[in-house]
Amino acid sequence: MAQVIDGKNVAEEVVRKVKALTGDLAAQGKGKPGLAVVIVGEDPASQVYVASKSRTAKECGFHSVQHTLDAATTQAELLALISRLNADPEIHGILVQLPLPGQIDAGTVIQAIAPEKDVDGFHFINVGKLGTGELETAFVPCTPAGSMLLIERVRGKDLSGLNAVVIGRSNIVGKPMANLLLSANCTVTVAHSRTRDLPALARTADILVAAVGRPEMVRGDWVKPGATVIDVGINRIPAPEKGEGKTRLVGDVAYAEAEKVAGAITPVPGGVGPMTIAMLMANTVVSAYLAAGLDRPSF
Ligand code: GUN
Repeated sequence: MAQVIDGKNVAEEVVRKVKALTGDLAAQGKGKPGLAVVIVGEDPASQVYVASKSRTAKECGFHSVQHTLDAATTQAELLALISRLNADPEIHGILVQLPLPGQIDAGTVIQAIAPEKDVDGFHFINVGKLGTGELETAFVPCTPAGSMLLIERVRGKDLSGLNAVVIGRSNIVGKPMANLLLSANCTVTVAHSRTRDLPALARTADILVAAVGRPEMVRGDWVKPGATVIDVGINRIPAPEKGEGKTRLVGDVAYAEAEKVAGAITPVPGGVGPMTIAMLMANTVVSAYLAAGLDRPSF
């Protein structure tokens, strides 16, 4: 039976640290960390995420602003808002919730965010810093940064000699995850939908990260005995056993099978999910410290 990695608990620890750092900043007369969350349109899942981000920011003692824009907002209007937020000294973090409506090019919008306020870590400057190992000054995307903290809880900070396999090559999770694992001295393989014999490759992994968005794709016999399994997937599937029309959340890993083989595994829900918002708070307080000319806090 695998150790269950409690992401909720680790996320709470991160948030406690953010609150303490926020208190110290105020005590030094440097004001509050400011986070602006921007949402365009009415995608229900995005609305839930954004509300949760704004709520946690308030709970941390941040100056928290949410901009809710109409689905018909033009790219020029959104860029004008970002330009105002870039210039606003009370704002240290800007997050534009993705996906954006079709008339807006997400790439253009992301590159318009000042890199020092890019708490999502999606700007080319931050992507480049992560890719070149400049972790001391980069903002790292929240989900892989949170996944890395969970891995460290099990394996420590130095992962020298371990084989890591990341399934999924997205810019938000797979690629930054691979770069973080490489920086921690893993031997890293990035697998994707065109990879040959994925089960055999996955079985080589001491650290297996699944970030594909396919419910329960990773089976128990894909897992090397004793491996650390990080399940980034959050998939809603029908659950007729709970009643007609009911649903439940599952990851990209078939949990009941994998936990019999793995050394440690993240559950869904309650694994990686809670870490994402906690790391957004961490990135925002880091940004506020840097803006105040203070040393960068570490998490
Ligand atoms: N949509 C889904 N995940 C994310 C994320 O991490 N950041 C932003 N901005 N949008 C998202």
